[in-house]
Amino acid sequence: MSLFPEPFKIKVVEPIRLIGKKEREEELEKAGYNLFAIDADKIFIDFLTDSGTSAMSDRQWGALMTGDESYAGCRSFRNLEKSIKDIFGFNFFIPTHQGRAAEDVLFSNLVKPGNYVPNNTHFDTTRANVEANGGNAVDLVIDEARVIDSDYPFKGNMDTKKLENFIKSVGPENIPVGMTTITNNSMGGQPVSMKNIRQTSGIYKKYNIPFFIDACRYAENSYFIKIREEGYSNRSVKEIAREIFSCADGCTMSAKKDGLVNMGGFLAMNREDFFEKFKQKLILTEGFPTYGGLSGRDLEAVAVGLQEGLDEDYLRYRIAHTKYLADRLEEEGVPIIKPAGGHGVYVDARGFMDHIPPDQLPGQSLAVALYLEGGIRTSEIGSVMFAKKDENGNLIPSDLDLVRLAIPRRVYTLSHLDYVAKVFRKVRENKEKYQGLKFTYMPSALRHFTARFGRVKPVAAKA
Ligand code: F0G
Repeated sequence: MSLFPEPFKIKVVEPIRLIGKKEREEELEKAGYNLFAIDADKIFIDFLTDSGTSAMSDRQWGALMTGDESYAGCRSFRNLEKSIKDIFGFNFFIPTHQGRAAEDVLFSNLVKPGNYVPNNTHFDTTRANVEANGGNAVDLVIDEARVIDSDYPFKGNMDTKKLENFIKSVGPENIPVGMTTITNNSMGGQPVSMKNIRQTSGIYKKYNIPFFIDACRYAENSYFIKIREEGYSNRSVKEIAREIFSCADGCTMSAKKDGLVNMGGFLAMNREDFFEKFKQKLILTEGFPTYGGLSGRDLEAVAVGLQEGLDEDYLRYRIAHTKYLADRLEEEGVPIIKPAGGHGVYVDARGFMDHIPPDQLPGQSLAVALYLEGGIRTSEIGSVMFAKKDENGNLIPSDLDLVRLAIPRRVYTLSHLDYVAKVFRKVRENKEKYQGLKFTYMPSALRHFTARFGRVKPVAAKA
């Protein structure tokens, strides 16, 4: 895939500034080495997330002015309805303020204590919403997903054998809903093939389990199907998206990703009985069913953003842009999850910072080094999030220590990506300078947001 230049030009700019190294060191200390605790204006390149960080187009900004703020039956709802019907094809939908609100409506209505919800890999909020209702969130991704340098084209796939065995073992009556997440964010932003979606759908159907797709990055996933799966190269991305959703009973959507907006989401479905139930919960927590958690202008921005997110020139650029960063990092000798994901590059921090033992948080250490060396903010996906403790209080590291470089949509240019690769080079050249970290405060849940860390002594001195 050759590099495809940005199919847009820049009309408005937002200045960013690289503060001095000494100031960055002070910011880190103040923040307890947790990048979530650093103010955004102290960040130069922000790769914390691709969610809600997109640049909107002139058409979206224009649409904002046409927002209808009527409490009930607003025109903006009808515009969004048209856009969603056109792409997703579901009969009913309710707007929500973001993806997790849609998850809350779905799971609080369907999941009872002791139930199970299978998925290829649950995202944190999906898992947390299943668990908040007493359910068990189960991940059944293919084994290949965990092989860092395997080039398998659809590493996000569900292991359909495991899925069917799982359903048989716990009984379909204990599974009120089955999911699959496209693309598979927690496993490197890797796509799921159409074949796999069909097989997954077939299994859920066979056991009479409603099938919902976590659709945040469905456009990137559809584009990967077009360029990687046999038989799809001549199909439009919109046709591919329609085919995906024709396999499901509904979807949860965070429009903050492929909807190209800063806030918004929805829950769509074919079953009227679900729709009637879900509306009641929506009214209680989000708002009247024709606005959900959003203002009329937000609904307009989502209606336009969903269509722009499927534009094939945009997607060609988007996937090539992410791959460009992956290629540049590989040139710098940085081990990454292969192939490049849709929305970001996931660095194998344990491999890159191989002088830092796993119990000294190599992922967090790399994230700190990238900020210190170049003002770049990334997120750790490793022991900070997942490690457990043994009976003596020692850390049992997670399987992998990754650092995610999530790329906001239509925001950074290639020279920003070149800059990031250069910062990685600096970190590599000065690697031994960067020591491991230890927790100084470990919250009990979702600890990556608020944990604090301190530096440990240099590894050499400890040995
Ligand atoms: N599902 C997936 C696969 C996600 O990646 C996210 C959010 C959500 C659901 C929840 O959506 O944030 O609108 O409530 N992912 C962001 C991220 C936060 O950084 O990966 P939300």
